[in-house]
Amino acid sequence: MIDAATPDDADALAALAAVTFPLACPPETTPEAITQFIAEKLSPAAFLAYLRDPDYDTVTARPDDGPLDGYALAAYQVPPPDIAELIGAGPASYLSKLYVRPGSIGGGVGYALFNRVRELAVTRGAEQIWLGTNQQNTRAQRFYERVGFERVGTRQFLVGGKLEDDYVFALKL
Ligand SMILES: CC(C)(COP(=O)(O)OP(=O)(O)OC[C@H]1O[C@@H](n2cnc3c(N)ncnc32)[C@H](O)[C@@H]1OP(=O)(O)O)[C@@H](O)C(=O)NCCC(=O)NCCS
Repeated sequence: MIDAATPDDADALAALAAVTFPLACPPETTPEAITQFIAEKLSPAAFLAYLRDPDYDTVTARPDDGPLDGYALAAYQVPPPDIAELIGAGPASYLSKLYVRPGSIGGGVGYALFNRVRELAVTRGAEQIWLGTNQQNTRAQRFYERVGFERVGTRQFLVGGKLEDDYVFALKL
């Protein structure tokens, strides 16, 4: 079942994020950089802050029992200037995180989470959805292109003190 996360989910989301974040990193990202990113950006406290912030939507894929299968986090903010140059400055949903538990990848969970993110973006009045994904993360790039995103440029993304190279994708709503 895809539903909105609540502050009670902060611990479960952090546990899932710690397992899934490394899947999106290129092989040369060091374990130390990954550990630092998880500690700083994906802690229970970090998720609690997202869950309490009205400018974010967090959705979960919740099985009947057991741990969460996946989650997505979307932010509604004015795009930063480098991104606005690529996609325009109109209202946009930033798909900050879309992650599926390893055992559930390829089974439609990501698609279901993304569909909810798209519905929420429309409800929020966004004109498009944008995201960044590592240039080596070809599985995610294939997924995003399959659901209608186009590659519009590049950006750099800080993971544990090192800048990683991302592609930026956007989908007009
Ligand atoms: C990228 C990711 C979120 C995609 O989620 P997923 O659950 O693996 O993907 P799905 O199973 O939903 O979709 C896989 C395929 O089925 C399609 N699909 C799934 N359900 C569908 C449905 N009901 N109707 C139509 N198509 C569907 C998808 O479009 C896709 O097509 P493909 O097989 O031709 O590539 C997931 O692989 C993941 O978490 N990867 C590791 C972490 C990561 O890299 N996250 C992205 C960070 S930017």
